[in-house]
Amino acid sequence: MSDIQTHLFVIFGASGDLARRKLLPALYRLMQSEEVARRCYVLGTARTDWTDEQFRENAREALRDKGYAEQEVSEWCTRNLYYQCLGEEGNDYEGLRRRIEQLERHRDLPGNRAFYLSLPPSIYRSAIEELGEVGLNASPGWTRLVVEKPFGYDLESARALNDHVHQYFSEDQVYRIDHYLGKETVQNLLAFRFGNAIFESIWSRNHIERVEITVSESLGVGGRGAYYDQSGQVRDMVQNHLTQLLTLTAMEPPTSMSATAIRQEKVKVLNAVQQPDPATDAVFGQYEAGTIDGESVPAYRDEPDIPDESITETFAALRLNVANWRWQGVPFYLRTGKRLSAKLTQIAVRFKGAPVSLFQESGQPCIPQNAGCEMRSNELLITLQPNEGFDLRFEVKAPGGSGKMELETQQLSFSYQDAFGPVPDAYETLLRDVILGDPTLFVRADEVEASWQLYAPLLEAESPVHAYEAGTWGPNEVERLLPQWTSTARTGP
Ligand code: BG6
Repeated sequence: MSDIQTHLFVIFGASGDLARRKLLPALYRLMQSEEVARRCYVLGTARTDWTDEQFRENAREALRDKGYAEQEVSEWCTRNLYYQCLGEEGNDYEGLRRRIEQLERHRDLPGNRAFYLSLPPSIYRSAIEELGEVGLNASPGWTRLVVEKPFGYDLESARALNDHVHQYFSEDQVYRIDHYLGKETVQNLLAFRFGNAIFESIWSRNHIERVEITVSESLGVGGRGAYYDQSGQVRDMVQNHLTQLLTLTAMEPPTSMSATAIRQEKVKVLNAVQQPDPATDAVFGQYEAGTIDGESVPAYRDEPDIPDESITETFAALRLNVANWRWQGVPFYLRTGKRLSAKLTQIAVRFKGAPVSLFQESGQPCIPQNAGCEMRSNELLITLQPNEGFDLRFEVKAPGGSGKMELETQQLSFSYQDAFGPVPDAYETLLRDVILGDPTLFVRADEVEASWQLYAPLLEAESPVHAYEAGTWGPNEVERLLPQWTSTARTGP
């Protein structure tokens, strides 16, 4: 890890949940080498009136919960963590600037600074402005601004936020996080597609019938009701995580693996996707009470902070058309929801069947247009979580049979875990890239705007929200879009 440059990492919202669960553990792992830990430091900041020692104690607890060795954790927290209260109003940025400068003098740091905004979106604007006003948007070294999702609430607010950010920071200082991009298996989509010519040559409308992207969770909204009810599944998951999976699946080969080349191709895909029609291309749902893994779970409307009459969608399924030469006519189905049957992130690519089927019950060949002609097609399942890996499903002859060939589906499988062991956490990858100054896995300003624009009709329409029982695969109405989802067939109850 000696590629980690000397810097000060400033976390806004340092007393919050994300800092505890993800950011501090990721920074701890990045600074695990003695050499790095001697020259990289973390400054937490928030309104919470903590001392350095209180912040350290909180961090020790968080890291112990993750199972890291007591003594090393304790030493790291004592040596590398500092805390600065932003005041009751959360606006003491002058105090923050003085503390940063003082720490840099004390630790002999060159002025490289990362500011991570792990804040409620409603205060992004003021935080960015305050940073700019006190001169923290520039430094003797590099200055980088990391912004968590959601970036905006719709196209208009995303544009306004981009304009606001650009008043104080240049685009190359800005790192918009979508943590899906930090997942090894999501990045591996690029390796899979562009490192293997065998797949690339069949990756188009000539051979693919449809693509299904499923991001299902068995968890509900938990303690995040107040945020979630204002957001819903399209804003919380579709506009960002599912759209990233769509663009990486559909993009053209970049001219190089540079950040500019890759992000350019992703934006081109987004510009080619046609806006979905809320009446025909979308189905929304909201979970009712049900049972998941043998446990009863409440309805969405009975979760904390959710109004009784809420019509916020906790499930969304969409059909999208990518209107370019590679994909025209191949539907991309997106499906995501809370309190579904299982946690699963999977891209299922269904290939076209053989032009003539020779293996019919009747013994007579048939073509797809014939009534009752059973066509089998190959499928590639790319599973991003859990059990990361690939399965390529194909037909083989079942042994035996009296003169008649019977086919059976089998698969070739690759498991990430078996090949490489545990997969690193997405935040570790992303924070390292921030520190290295590599923006490839971050969302560019025009990309975030293009994705909000794509979903604008859905956000504006008042579409029906259908009830579904927790622990199922969503409302029955989803069959209107696609009667049988490949992922459901494999992992469903
Ligand atoms: C977050 C969403 O961005 O992603 C959550 O706000 C969701 O609602 C989470 O639960 C899912 O992330 P992962 O990595 O568990 O698939």
